[in-house]
Amino acid sequence: MRRIHILDTSLRDGEQAPGASMTSPEKLEVARALARLGVDIIEAGFPAASPDDHAAVAQIAAEVGREPLRGRPDVQPPVIQALARAHEGDIDAAWSAIKGAARPRIHTFLATSDLHLEHKLRMTRDEVIAKVGAMVRHAKRLCDAVEFSPEDAGRSDPAFLHQVLAVAIEAGATVLNIPDTVGYTMPDEFGALIAGIVENVPGAREVVISVHCHDDLGLAVANSLAGLRAGAGQAEVTVNGIGERAGNASLEELVMLLRTREPVLGLTTGIDTTQLLSVSKVISRATSYPVPPNKAVVGGNAFAHESGIHQDGVLKHQRTYEIMKPEDVGASQTKLVLGKHSGKHAFAERLAVLGVALEGEALVRAFGRFKVLADRKRAVHDADLVALAAGERAPAPDLYVLEDLQVACGTAGLATATVRLRDPEGGQRVQAAVGTGPVDATYKAIQAIVLTPVELLEFNVNAVTEGIDALGEVSVRVREGDERATHGSGADTDIVVASAKAYLAALNHVIARRPAAQNVEGAA
Ligand code: KIV
Ligand code: ZN
Repeated sequence: MRRIHILDTSLRDGEQAPGASMTSPEKLEVARALARLGVDIIEAGFPAASPDDHAAVAQIAAEVGREPLRGRPDVQPPVIQALARAHEGDIDAAWSAIKGAARPRIHTFLATSDLHLEHKLRMTRDEVIAKVGAMVRHAKRLCDAVEFSPEDAGRSDPAFLHQVLAVAIEAGATVLNIPDTVGYTMPDEFGALIAGIVENVPGAREVVISVHCHDDLGLAVANSLAGLRAGAGQAEVTVNGIGERAGNASLEELVMLLRTREPVLGLTTGIDTTQLLSVSKVISRATSYPVPPNKAVVGGNAFAHESGIHQDGVLKHQRTYEIMKPEDVGASQTKLVLGKHSGKHAFAERLAVLGVALEGEALVRAFGRFKVLADRKRAVHDADLVALAAGERAPAPDLYVLEDLQVACGTAGLATATVRLRDPEGGQRVQAAVGTGPVDATYKAIQAIVLTPVELLEFNVNAVTEGIDALGEVSVRVREGDERATHGSGADTDIVVASAKAYLAALNHVIARRPAAQNVEGAA
């Protein structure tokens, strides 16, 4: 049995998905959930990208990278890794962000395909070799553990790739990560690429070889598996497969593949698979990327049986149509955990177990909402609690907050909405508007106060749990002018209220990332 290290890059490559940017509190919550899941390495971000990214990585390093897992003092905290281009400044920024972790690791990269050398880097092969040696040595002077990635390895000349990797090992790299950056290779090719590296690169057997596959042709998991079977010891993946373009290899798919086919593959991981569904929900909420119902392992239909023949078979014997047990991925943990008589302490404890740390005012507000929910809803599940608490982690110190919403709509006439918001100065603002439906009217009324015109790119509604009394969760994606798209989500038993919260959260994101002077003008 060979133990495979799982590196999760949801907070770095995953966050590069269009409009998936996360706030620092959201990143911290994701990192906590990943630690609970048992990932070996968390790639926490790209500190040179912005002061906010640096601060988020530093916080994850100092908290998640140092704390033993709740209730598991025997388990050491995950390695915290940060990305850096092959520039001294980036590498220094990565180091200063992660040095608070018990086990820090710097990840630096430089492209090796002729295409990238000629058109992007405008460097010769000799220059690339010299730069890799110098930058890995620089990183090594700061940190013992250094990962090097030859970007676009999947389309690089293998002989040149071997040369570069040998230089990286010589300079002190402890992990060689082989990316199929554009998801171009096929499993037999990618497996052969890894086997060739193990075979031909001096010192390759003494370091960890890692695979990092993108899903442009839907082959990321298949390619990662091929690489692992050829000798790689680490897989870089993201939860729900989020990432650049079509995304990265999905953590839950690869992990359940290794587990389900373990007798044939002989590969294991340290992942607590019963956490997979809850971590998938944490990521989906933090990025406002809904999980498609037919998504392998964590989709709503992954264990649903619709046709009579299948239902009959499963009732007679579960394994007739199920190759994994729902409870193995946490899919049957929809039990009632708290009721309307539960106290604040039990509520906070349960949230902490779910990886959501709320304190002070935020805890009091979330508890108040829980009481209201417990009155309205027959059973309050873990998923409800996480959705409810998510609304309390304001992306930026209370910008605009929804205080009241009244809507009139129906089959005749226009819908009308009246909203009351608390503005950033603590004042109350009321506006009414008409629209083609209740959500349209609500959004127009909010816009009349916030005055932040955005294009609504996506609007999704999902039920958090089953039943007519389920919490509805709305996620929206918006864009202001030519800026990067951003998102917001909100949950409530009333989906128009959830829609208003989601829209307001997205607008707060947009406002929070503007330069301060512009916000003062906008508010005036
Ligand atoms: O896909 C890629 O090449 C990357 C590198 C930075 C490792 O994400
Ligand atoms: Zn990548």
